[in-house]
Amino acid sequence: MTDKYTQLVSRGLGKDIARKLGLPQPVELRRHKPGQPLIDGPVLVQGTGTGAEDLASTLLSWNLDVRRHAVPKERLGAIILVLDGLTGPEDLEKPVLTAATSLRDLAPNSRVITVSRAASDTTDPAVAAARQGVDGLLRSLAKELRAGATGNGIILGNGAGTTSPSSLGALRFFLSGRSAFVDGQFLTVGSGAGQLPADVEKPLAGKVAVVTGAARGIGAAIARTLHRDGATLVVVDIPAAGDHLAKVANDVRGTALQLDISRADAGQRIIEHAVQRHGRLDIVIHNAGITRDKLLANMDQGRWNSVINVNIAAQLRINDALLASEHFRNSPRIVSVASTSGIAGNRGQTNYAASKGGVMGMVRSTAPLIAVHGGSINAVAPGFIETEMTARIPFATREVARRLNSLQQGGQPGDVAEAIAFLASDAAGGISGDVLRVCGQNLVGA
Ligand code: NAI
Repeated sequence: MTDKYTQLVSRGLGKDIARKLGLPQPVELRRHKPGQPLIDGPVLVQGTGTGAEDLASTLLSWNLDVRRHAVPKERLGAIILVLDGLTGPEDLEKPVLTAATSLRDLAPNSRVITVSRAASDTTDPAVAAARQGVDGLLRSLAKELRAGATGNGIILGNGAGTTSPSSLGALRFFLSGRSAFVDGQFLTVGSGAGQLPADVEKPLAGKVAVVTGAARGIGAAIARTLHRDGATLVVVDIPAAGDHLAKVANDVRGTALQLDISRADAGQRIIEHAVQRHGRLDIVIHNAGITRDKLLANMDQGRWNSVINVNIAAQLRINDALLASEHFRNSPRIVSVASTSGIAGNRGQTNYAASKGGVMGMVRSTAPLIAVHGGSINAVAPGFIETEMTARIPFATREVARRLNSLQQGGQPGDVAEAIAFLASDAAGGISGDVLRVCGQNLVGA
């Protein structure tokens, strides 16, 4: 489902009129459907060195149509630019300008993906400059791509190579329709941990997952996506949302737990429910969140405290219980929902942005604690997502918020859910302490 304007200008007369008037021309994004090919069209792997060679061989083993050199005028599904051996900024010229000659051959909804190394992992200024340069380059290129095409990057830490499980997991995610609304973003693969799934359509088979705030909106979409991917679900929400929660639980053939997550014993209740009803607990998705917007000059204690309490303090308390529990020791995964407001800020949302900035800080410093149990913790930061919450924004403000990103449209709850499902899977086991924005590359703010 896309908004009506996007449907109108995606084809036929509407498309011609929008082009003539210079109006935004969002296209319907190619979103994942079970059984769909990973990407439509050949994949051009550019870059020299064994990293690029190994990656190309792996893509061939996935039955993709792989090119090591561009074929003039051939429509491409993706360009993968392997830049893992940069020694200084001058090394960028050749691979980048060679890739540039193929950009016009990219098909609608195609992908450009860089693979490079972490600037923070070197003490050599020239190497760091080149590596950090990839950041600016990719983010700018993503803003130049059109027709639903996206640009994203994979950053390899010292412990990872181009074919480490999570490098390949991230590559599959970025190539696929699962990342349709992720644009201009990087995932950092810190280690060789993780494992690609035996069945790519059921990467969460055998896992028990808890989703908070699952009665509606993004939380309900997360529950449905994790269920599609093979997980057994426990859906959590406040007692007042009990009816809606029961319906979601029924849809995903899971169990419902009516619980206010800000209760002191919430962590314990979640663990007990999952273990008693399903025998184990592998994944916790902290999605429940509230807004109580006011300019800071007019902010009262009640608004401030309720947002901090539900959006971050509750997550910290639940994580303490999880990390202390013997039932959360088998490659456990935690994924939290943050917000681009916590990165770029938003007028009237000091309390909310403090809580969501807090989520990102929490994720970073919890990563080493959960690594002890072979687990990972990450956050997803959504931008403008089409939900009941954003449908209530006045029309003009909503249109501006919706169009001001590289894809010129709002995301769907399912787009956030896809990113979460990936980070909750073992394919992302080598990614931890990271924040992935699902915002279509917001043009305003950070
Ligand atoms: P929503 O308001 O539609 O759903 C939130 C759910 O959380 C509700 O079912 C609510 O009952 C539940 N909840 C609230 N307090 C709770 C508590 N104390 N205990 C248990 N459950 C509780 O919100 P939406 O839009 O689906 O957002 C979900 C998450 O995504 C939130 O964390 C929100 O901050 C975040 N987000 C949403 C964006 C959007 O554009 N809709 C953008 C960025 C972030």
